[in-house]
Amino acid sequence: MSAEEIAIEKLTLNGIAEDDDIVDPWNVHSKNDAGIDYDKLIKRFGSSKIDEELLARFEKLTGRKPHHWLRRGIFFSHRDLNIILNMYEQGKPFYLYTGRGPSSESMHLGHLIPFMFCKWLQEVFDVPQVIQLTDDEKAIWKDLTIEDAIKMSYNNAKDIIACGFDLRKTFIFSDLEHIGSNPAFYQNMIRIQRCVTFNQVKGIFGFGDSDPIAKISFPPTQAAPAFSSSFPFIFTNAKVNCLIPCAIDQDPYFRMSRDVAPRIGFPKPALLHSIFFPALQGPKTKMSASESNSAIFLNDSAKQIKNKINKHAFSGGQTTVEEHRRLGGNCEVDISYQWLTFFLEDDERLEQLRKGYTAGEILTGELKKELIEVLQPLVAAHQDRRSKVTDEVVKQYMSPRDLGFIPQK
Ligand code: TRP
Repeated sequence: MSAEEIAIEKLTLNGIAEDDDIVDPWNVHSKNDAGIDYDKLIKRFGSSKIDEELLARFEKLTGRKPHHWLRRGIFFSHRDLNIILNMYEQGKPFYLYTGRGPSSESMHLGHLIPFMFCKWLQEVFDVPQVIQLTDDEKAIWKDLTIEDAIKMSYNNAKDIIACGFDLRKTFIFSDLEHIGSNPAFYQNMIRIQRCVTFNQVKGIFGFGDSDPIAKISFPPTQAAPAFSSSFPFIFTNAKVNCLIPCAIDQDPYFRMSRDVAPRIGFPKPALLHSIFFPALQGPKTKMSASESNSAIFLNDSAKQIKNKINKHAFSGGQTTVEEHRRLGGNCEVDISYQWLTFFLEDDERLEQLRKGYTAGEILTGELKKELIEVLQPLVAAHQDRRSKVTDEVVKQYMSPRDLGFIPQK
């Protein structure tokens, strides 16, 4: 058995140990002040660390310096990225797949991460991208009507489009609207469902006997886009490899997809896993859209951004200025610093801040100011791009069509 298979087996049989961080699609929580132990998670999940060697190969093949989220370990773990790089090297095609469970509240900064990253990968590799909006998942898990869930998909699609995806190469779809008109997608769902037993789905996702069967039958819906034949209008019948960038809490869906893939005659989807974007209150948990003070929303004003950070950003500094000067601050738990690692692209400036803060030369207030100055223009630019995304533009991204992938005769 491979390390991955052993990890799957263990997760399925024993669940997690007492002192383990909780990481699944519905819960992310750590008992540790510094947050989730990601190295331990790699071992538990049987994935691989993104190391210097892999990044060097990426740079050599693409001619592009790896994104700062790769360089800084924000995308820290993968499955089979080497296979995707082999394909790129050989001029063979692959595609990108990511998704989102749409929510009524505005999206927040943490939600942007997979999309900003995919947009960059799309540019680097020049490949098609499919984006699944799991409004069905939201209708199943939250108390929501089908109609309202669909509306949220359309609303969230605007924020996703504002990340800059190439219309000619990007297909965004709402599960509730699209699947019913795409028999190939449904057929793949059934192929996947045939391969997974009730015991396995209970083991992988923790479902219990009194969960509605909607939950139990949902995972194949998120797995189907990892198989190219679900989109005949893009790929005809070709078996095209898939790369899925996502936060690591989504891994259970794709462990299942990888397990099923060879049995339905498909290559296993490759994965790139990111760490979580921490809440303003500290690194123990991720940002939550339902806790308005835990997050910066994409529709927050410049003033709200400033106030939230100044009031709520957890500080790794000491209680008095004198102590701070003497003992220095802790970047590992300081949220302003942590957020800067996501959004301040300048490596040198970031290193200056890290050194200065650790040595006690820079105060928490100064880090906060730096963060505010990075985020205000970033969010304003997003709002500006989003305001230009009309309903007509959304319709174009969401209509099933040839993405120029099928060779023209
Ligand atoms: N389940 C994800 C969420 O709740 C949405 C999703 C669907 C997804 N397909 C995906 C996320 C593929 C990452 C990759 O947000």
